[in-house]
Amino acid sequence: MTHIAFIGGTGPEGKGLAYRFALAGHEITIGSRKAERAAEAALEVAEHASGSTVRGVENADAARDADLIILTVPHTAQPASLPDLNDAAKGKVVVSTSVPMEFGGGRAAIVDLPEGSAAEQAQALMPDALVVGAFQNLGAAKLWKDAAALDQDVIVCADDDDAKRTISALAEEIAGIRAIDGGALANARYAEGITALLVSVNRNYKKTTGIRIVGIE
Ligand SMILES: NC(=O)c1ccc[n+]([C@@H]2O[C@H](COP(=O)([O-])OP(=O)(O)OC[C@H]3O[C@@H](n4cnc5c(N)ncnc54)[C@H](OP(=O)(O)O)[C@@H]3O)[C@@H](O)[C@H]2O)c1
Repeated sequence: MTHIAFIGGTGPEGKGLAYRFALAGHEITIGSRKAERAAEAALEVAEHASGSTVRGVENADAARDADLIILTVPHTAQPASLPDLNDAAKGKVVVSTSVPMEFGGGRAAIVDLPEGSAAEQAQALMPDALVVGAFQNLGAAKLWKDAAALDQDVIVCADDDDAKRTISALAEEIAGIRAIDGGALANARYAEGITALLVSVNRNYKKTTGIRIVGIE
């Protein structure tokens, strides 16, 4: 059992992943800027994943107490929020789920970040953490939906091989998920970009889509 903290875990993506990892038997802490909001979200996740223990605290306390940290804040929140968490994240695996996306002209597009991706931005802002990019292509609605198998791949990108293995194994604890080694953290920009494409595909087909890589087995 791993103690997993979600920074900004009160939003749909944080609660969805927290639900899946609570179902898998992990100890979950939901982080928020406000302890009361964290407590409310923790209760929601605990009720959905019956039998689990989920608590809610402020982000800094969540990061300090956990073994593993998952960032589920919008990318625009990263520059102001992440540097304060660097000490608490020292030597820990920190997962970046963020997609730096904006909507305009009737479509979703990726925002160019100077670091190349939200994951690399997170690493620059938390230099003492071992940042891994993952879960960017998993939509929150399906994560939250009644433990249904997801039948999707999760691309895992990291510069640290042990951290990549840890998150690949964690991802595969979600029903129907296969982890794919996406290479270095710099490749996270491509995984993030796929989500902007999926937004258009979802709109065109009126479905919630995901990705599968073929040709491996
Ligand atoms: N939603 C999806 O289907 C999906 C899919 C793939 C990837 N993602 C990625 O997952 C991340 C979370 O997505 P989401 O839809 O759950 O996002 P969200 O609801 O917009 O935000 C999540 C939480 O982040 C915190 N937050 C918001 N603005 C903040 C700020 N300026 N400073 C600090 N904290 C702030 C809020 O928590 P408090 O107010 O409680 O602090 C909020 O509940 C995003 O980076 C997104 O790109 C989402």
